[in-house]
Parts: sequence; C-alpha cells; structure tokens
Amino acid sequence: MSATGFDHPKAPFGRRLATVEMNAPTGGYRLVSALDSEGPDPAPGQFYMLATERGWGGVDGRPYLPRAFSVASAERRDAGVRLDFLLESVGPGTEALAGLRGGDGLWITGPLGNPFSAPRDLNPRAAGAILVGGGIGIAPLAVLRRALSRRGFPHRALLGFRDRAHSGGVSELFSCSEVRLASEDGHAGHRGYVTDLLETMLDGDSAATAVVYACGPPAMLEAVRAMSLERGVACELALETPMACGFGACFGCAVPLAEGGYMRLCVEGPAVRADRIATAATAGAGHR
Ligand SMILES: Cc1cc2nc3c(=O)[nH]c(=O)nc-3n(C[C@H](O)[C@H](O)[C@H](O)COP(=O)(O)OP(=O)(O)OC[C@H]3O[C@@H](n4cnc5c(N)ncnc54)[C@H](O)[C@@H]3O)c2cc1C
Ligand code: FES
Repeated sequence: MSATGFDHPKAPFGRRLATVEMNAPTGGYRLVSALDSEGPDPAPGQFYMLATERGWGGVDGRPYLPRAFSVASAERRDAGVRLDFLLESVGPGTEALAGLRGGDGLWITGPLGNPFSAPRDLNPRAAGAILVGGGIGIAPLAVLRRALSRRGFPHRALLGFRDRAHSGGVSELFSCSEVRLASEDGHAGHRGYVTDLLETMLDGDSAATAVVYACGPPAMLEAVRAMSLERGVACELALETPMACGFGACFGCAVPLAEGGYMRLCVEGPAVRADRIATAATAGAGHR
C-alpha cells in the first residue's frame, strides 16, 4: 500500500500455471485456493482471468475463454502468494473451476484492473468505511476488509444473501469483523435487503465522513449508487460486467458513463466511483 492509496500491481505478461491447494464448499459456493509462485500480491478489488489446466472447453472441442474472478484474499508466503477465490457455479466455466482438486493446475492471468481507492482518496474527511456485499459480491470486499484492518481504518460490513443456498464465505472471509447480515428468506440476520441495513446506517451517520464500498448484483449496486448520490456520500462500486479478454482488447465490458460515452470496465474498473457511471444496472452484469 502506498502513502495515499492501495498499490496498483500490474499483471506479468501472459498466463501462468498456479497450483490448487484447496477447494471447499461454503454455503452453496466454493472457496478455491491456489498458489501463484510468480505473480505480485494483488490489491483489493483486482481480479484474475481463470481457466482450469485440464477439461476447459465444450464437448465440441471449442475452448472457452478464461473467466473473470475477484480475488477474495491473498496471503504472501515463501513459495509465492496464496490466492483465494469465492465461486458460484452458473455455467460451464464456473462448473469446471468448482471441480478442481488439490494439486490440479489453474491457469491465471492477473492481477488485472484498477483496485479500490483508499478511503481518504474518495473522501479526505473519511472516518469510517461501510462495506456492502451481496451474494458472491462479498469476495472483493473480504480482501478490502483485511487491507483496512491492517491500516487500522474503522470499517463495518453489511452482507446480504438471497437464501441459505447462496450465502457462502462469511465465516471464512469475514471472521474477526463487525458484520451485519441480511437475507431475503430470513435465514440469517435482517429479513430483507442489505440495502435496508445501509439506509439505516447512512441515516445515522454523517455523510461528510462516510465512505461506502459495494459489490453485488446489479440491482443492489444501483440501489447503493442512488442512495449514496442522494446523500452526497462518497461511494465506490465493484462491477462485474461480463468480460471476454480482461485487458482492454475486446470492448466487451463497456459500461455507460454519467458524462456520456463508455469505459472499458476491465482496465478502468472494476472498482469505479458511483458518480462516474450512468447506471450500475448494466445488462448481464453481476449475479442476481
Ligand atoms: C471483474 C469480475 C469479477 C468477478 N468475480 C467473481 C467472483 O468472485 N466469483 C464468481 O463466482 N463470479 C465472479 N464473476 C462472474 C464470473 O466471471 C461469471 O460468473 C463467469 O464468467 C460465468 O462463466 P460460466 O462459463 O460459468 O458461465 P457462462 O456460460 O459464461 O454464463 C452462465 C450464465 O451466467 C451469466 N453470466 C455471465 N457472466 C456473468 C457475470 N459476470 N455475472 C453474473 N452472471 C454472469 C450468463 O448470462 C449466463 O446466464 C466476476 C466477473 C467479473 C467481470
Ligand atoms: S473484457 Fe475485453 S476490453 Fe474489457
């Protein structure tokens, strides 16, 4: 981390083979850990393009493109950096990744994209951060939470889930944190949306000293964006617009800007200021 913000490590050229250390179920998701022996430590909010070494491709033999995943935690060791990813199976790529076993090879490209901004880069008077995660979107907030803890910067996490079957990663990634939960089915915490908790918290906080970070489904992110803009609260969102290349070449990840035009999320995001974009509810972006 630099004096003013998080470091912004760049991906080494090309893909490299990491070794899977663990793949464990958690609340309907999978937590996959792999050792990257060559790459730099990622910053909070950055992502990797992942593909399994074996069995990546359709029955017709056509390969899939690698898929984008936020790093959920990163730990430096003598042999490299251990990367954790929280995965939800939604299609062939995520299913192949969910089937990885210890010792398997995992192709990785990264760390990619712009990390989250440091709180005082978003709001010079920031006194505390509110982390708002929905479903699988809790992943990048977990690594941000650790970075804020290391800095001694006060933060609270609000995490929301649809139901028990889509609710993994909290105990593994958010232990030792002040966490408030919401669930649509009422199985944990407040029955309803995580944005209900945010609204209550923002009503009690001073907008002048707050900063909000959020990642989750597009509808949730759009609600967080609108709530923050209405109250003048500094806010950064991590979007998950589908990506084909991950490094700026295909324009498949375009997100509309508030001032008109588009940005490529993979190089100018995935963390973006809420007031920079026209909407967070971009088609096909993020999980439900
Ligand atoms: C920057 C970034 C970070 C991400 N981080 C994570 C993460 O930490 N954990 C995780 O599980 N997923 C994450 N995703 C989403 C993940 O990349 C997609 O779920 C994955 O590409 C789907 O691949 P597939 O082959 O399994 O399914 P596909 O066959 O590609 O798609 C299956 C279904 O999922 C939908 N889909 C495609 N892309 C996305 C998307 N981006 N979000 C939601 N639905 C999608 C498709 O419309 C389709 O209905 C992230 C995406 C981005 C861009
Ligand atoms: S994913 Fe290709 S330009 Fe962003």
